[in-house]
Amino acid sequence: MKKNILFIICVLTFCTSCTIDQNNSSATNGTSYQDVVIENILTRRSIRQYQPTPIDSVQLRKIIECGLYAPNGKGLESWEVRVVSHPDILQSINLSYNENDSTRRHAFFEAPALIFIAYNTEYDLSQVDCGLLGGNMMLAAHSMGIGSCCLGGLARFVNSDKGESIREILEFSPTHRLLYAIAFGYPNESPKAKERHWDRVKFIE
Ligand SMILES: Cc1cc2nc3c(=O)[nH]c(=O)nc-3n(C[C@H](O)[C@H](O)[C@H](O)COP(=O)(O)O)c2cc1C
Repeated sequence: MKKNILFIICVLTFCTSCTIDQNNSSATNGTSYQDVVIENILTRRSIRQYQPTPIDSVQLRKIIECGLYAPNGKGLESWEVRVVSHPDILQSINLSYNENDSTRRHAFFEAPALIFIAYNTEYDLSQVDCGLLGGNMMLAAHSMGIGSCCLGGLARFVNSDKGESIREILEFSPTHRLLYAIAFGYPNESPKAKERHWDRVKFIE
């Protein structure tokens, strides 16, 4: 009995010490909430080597939810999103991409999940909505140990004449056009960050 009580006290103490107090932006274990968020942003990298392990479905839904909570113009949520993780569909997308060009590398680095994001061609700021959606998703994924990589090249192919079979799979509305895709999966590499160009930033004072 004594042992049980001691165990419960230990678990409660551990849980409390790990809790992040969002009101005062500090965590009781010494790391601030801000630090954790900023660290997550600064350490995300594009991942181009993945483990074959499928992404846990709860984690995948959470990534999508974080995307859907991105800011979006007029609250329109102007994007359309397609999530593909079935191995047969992934394989057919890669086959179609490589069909006419055997020198091409794998279309999405053998990642176990792809998210395709289309913008509304009838709304001038829809591409901004889509960028913010994907940014949220990639950062959420990184916080869970899941890597990602934007795939502009694949989107270009899908939008070309040769990409019709993939467009048929994705079934976007006639008002929407694919903007980009994002590969997701557990990373098999940890690339270093490229330096950023601070000279492109000017403080207007
Ligand atoms: C719009 C866009 C399109 C991209 N397309 C590709 C792509 O087709 N293939 C690829 O390997 N990486 C692609 N990337 C990833 C960039 O190369 C990468 O984000 C950039 O080099 C910065 O590296 P980091 O993400 O590790 O910080 C794309 C990124 C963006 C934002």
